[in-house]
Amino acid sequence: MHILILGGDGYLGWPTAMYFSNRGYDVTVVDNYMRRNTCTELDVGMLYPVPTLIERAKIWHELTGKEIKVVIGDLTQPEVMRSFFKGGVEYSWAIENSFTGIPDTMIHYAEQPSAPFSLINYKYANLTLGNNLLVTNNLMFALKDFARDTHVIHVGTMGEYGTPNIDIEEGWLEIEHKGRKDKFLFPRQASSLYHTTKIMDTDLMWFAVRMWDLRITDLMQGPVYGMETEDSKIDDRLMTLFNYDEIFGTIVNRFITQAVVGYPLTVYGKGGQTRGYLNINDTLQCVHMSEKTPPKKGELRIFNQIMETFSVNQLAEIACRVGKSLGYDVEVKSIVNPRREAEEHYYNPVYQGLIDIGVNPHYLTDDVMAGMFKVVERYKANIRKDVIFRGIKW
Ligand SMILES: NC(=O)c1ccc[n+]([C@@H]2O[C@H](COP(=O)([O-])OP(=O)(O)OC[C@H]3O[C@@H](n4cnc5c(N)ncnc54)[C@H](O)[C@@H]3O)[C@@H](O)[C@H]2O)c1
Repeated sequence: MHILILGGDGYLGWPTAMYFSNRGYDVTVVDNYMRRNTCTELDVGMLYPVPTLIERAKIWHELTGKEIKVVIGDLTQPEVMRSFFKGGVEYSWAIENSFTGIPDTMIHYAEQPSAPFSLINYKYANLTLGNNLLVTNNLMFALKDFARDTHVIHVGTMGEYGTPNIDIEEGWLEIEHKGRKDKFLFPRQASSLYHTTKIMDTDLMWFAVRMWDLRITDLMQGPVYGMETEDSKIDDRLMTLFNYDEIFGTIVNRFITQAVVGYPLTVYGKGGQTRGYLNINDTLQCVHMSEKTPPKKGELRIFNQIMETFSVNQLAEIACRVGKSLGYDVEVKSIVNPRREAEEHYYNPVYQGLIDIGVNPHYLTDDVMAGMFKVVERYKANIRKDVIFRGIKW
């Protein structure tokens, strides 16, 4: 089975590449280093240096004998996307420099993934809109023209739904109106321009599925935490990139880093903002189980990819408790919320579909969090306090 990972250098992309490679799949990754380059441009520190994608593929090969083919290319360029289907791929690193044929499954992570980034100013808003929508549209047309059977697994976000005052279903909602019934995409109302692009992705994919009988899984993922996976444990150089700043760091990763370096945990406003979360290892499982059970042609299958929900206050409480048990003097500080969002709200999403296809959830226990503290501690000297909070306003 051949898997192509769009955005294979990213926080989720690289662990996914190792995961499938280790399970005997032929894996190709493509990335344009947008994430790394924007981190450099905005001067946000990463917890530890990460070798380039090509270096990581070489290390992986040296240690396991397995090949992850690497393409450095920009997927907003239609010809780069189309080369994966019709040939002419330019590999930046591969043992065998030959076209592997049309992928059986494509995992689409290649997007600008930060809400604050998309609201820094009009320039970053345009970059987010242009990048995310062009990559998805290029993918849809490549599938239409060359590969209508290839299964695409796209990672969307729970942020598409916002925080409605009703239960959040898995992607779809049956509505009865004036005595008639129909099924529609669940109403969506994002609270950032990044999240708005993910809504638009879903619309683009739903259009393509209706018109061209494609098969697509759209995973509405919550914020992910963690950095170690089974495969990265063989060598620290294989650990995925880890941001702890306000722009690219996800909340659990940020709170742990703040606790380790003695920076008060930044709770925005009242802290009642509730979201669904998952461990990075569960992202891998969810993608794998989706790959093993593809939807039928002409189906846009949507799962809510979270394992449990927490409010910001609850996460701060856990980080505080675990940090103190490890000897850290952790303080929690409520600050004026730079975002426009409900600070207290109803939140009751359904998240059963992935469990039904075989995912076995890991939860954010004190032990799991303590394990993350131990990794962050090793790199404490690298943590820059000045990048933790800048207050990007909505
Ligand atoms: N990390 C999370 O907590 C989380 C939560 C919900 C959804 N998601 C979604 O999952 C996906 C992956 O997220 P991530 O955290 O790994 O982000 P990431 O930024 O680390 O990974 C995305 C990768 O795609 C690459 N990329 C972006 N545009 C590209 C282009 N035009 N051509 C080639 N490569 C391109 C980037 O360089 C980056 O390496 C994103 O779509 C994101 O929206 C992530």
